[in-house]
Amino acid sequence: MGNCFGSSTIVDSRESTYHGSSRISAKRRQSFRLSILTIPSSSYNDDRSFKSLQMPRSEGEILASPTLKAFTFNELKTATRNFRPNSVIGEGGFGYVYKGWIDEHTLSPSKPGSGVVVAVKKLKEEALQGHKEWLAEVDCLGRLHHMNLVKLIGYCSKGDYIRLLVYEYMPKGSLENHLFRRGAEPIPWRTRMKVAISAAKGLAFLHDAQVIYRDFKASNILLDTEFNAKLSDFGLAKEGPTGDRTHVSTQVMGTQGYAAPEYIATGRITAKSDVYSFGVVLLELLSGRPTLDKSKVGVERNLVDWAIPYLGDRRKVFRIMDTKLEGQYPRKGACLAANTALQCLNQEAKLRPKMSDVLATLEELDQMTSKSGSTSNSVMTLTSSSSSQSAKRRVRAPVADPVLSSRRRRRVR
Ligand SMILES: Nc1ncnc2c1ncn2[C@@H]1O[C@H](COP(=O)(O)OP(=O)(O)OP(=O)(O)O)[C@@H](O)[C@H]1O
Ligand SMILES: [Mg+2]
Repeated sequence: MGNCFGSSTIVDSRESTYHGSSRISAKRRQSFRLSILTIPSSSYNDDRSFKSLQMPRSEGEILASPTLKAFTFNELKTATRNFRPNSVIGEGGFGYVYKGWIDEHTLSPSKPGSGVVVAVKKLKEEALQGHKEWLAEVDCLGRLHHMNLVKLIGYCSKGDYIRLLVYEYMPKGSLENHLFRRGAEPIPWRTRMKVAISAAKGLAFLHDAQVIYRDFKASNILLDTEFNAKLSDFGLAKEGPTGDRTHVSTQVMGTQGYAAPEYIATGRITAKSDVYSFGVVLLELLSGRPTLDKSKVGVERNLVDWAIPYLGDRRKVFRIMDTKLEGQYPRKGACLAANTALQCLNQEAKLRPKMSDVLATLEELDQMTSKSGSTSNSVMTLTSSSSSQSAKRRVRAPVADPVLSSRRRRRVR
């Protein structure tokens, strides 16, 4: 691990601007010398082009990315008002995330209320993995640009231990908070599908670019004001292959409850391991339940184990649906989404659909149900090479450990 790509920047060729719609990015194009190489999807699927992208880069090369600003520690201290506790907007396994303010033209710290808001992640100084993951994140997000990946604005490194990352601020925080935080407003069906589709777009883009994400989970899905999802946390991302050829990792990493069973058992990772994790998140969106829940007893502690028997049966699917939806969802759409989750969760990695197929199905579902507000019972199947019937037959419960850590699910190390 350490760097997820070669020497080129990959942007989504379907987008008109390289950095999406942020005001920061428009200005940054003026303030920095950018040499963005746009690689059309047809060429980065080409084997020769892909090989040229695989050249490992030195730390110096990674940090010299023309799209990223190297902040000083003092600049970030000022931007976050000295890392004041009331600037904290989140906490993860690697440290706290603070709200800060920077000038949108110069990117230097500004007064709260002027300029633009950013999210500053300060890695815990004692986190041993910290530097490696920090560098991997700078490497990936310095080169991968897509409207459904969070934008990295810059980084800061001071001495051996101080490492920070500066991201665009995502006003609605993480999907995890919206789904599971006590007192959170219930998310309507259409919004849940919007989140699923936009997150699927981010993951499909990564797979197209030969990157396995490895940490797809509700807390890494960040939301903008319109509930468009952007993936964050690329410290675990690993370069291809994203086909069915496997990659053996020396360490099994990821998060309990989301990691694919074959990855936990063997350390073998493919893009299909990400597809499994996508299935878990889709199930969380449908059921409003977290993947692992210590407060429940028996099989209900593990969402996948509990839900699998209902997912392929259109007369039983409603039993797993979030009661907070109060029945306000199209039956046909719910059946199709549940069926999609079932296929993603196939125990047999090869039989899981590709992310591009999952995305196509979810988009079709969304269009179909928005047109008709349908309550019909017919269930569509994925357009993938694997038939849904055989996929259903082969699904078995995953081996993920259902034990939760005290506050957060642990990353598997
Ligand atoms: N760019 C951002 N904009 C707004 N909020 C953010 C941003 N990045 C992170 N957060 C908030 O901070 C929280 C912590 O994020 P972080 O990535 O450190 O940990 P995590 O994903 O929750 O857990 P883990 O350490 O296991 O990855 C997120 O859940 C989210 O609520
Ligand atoms: Mg995270």
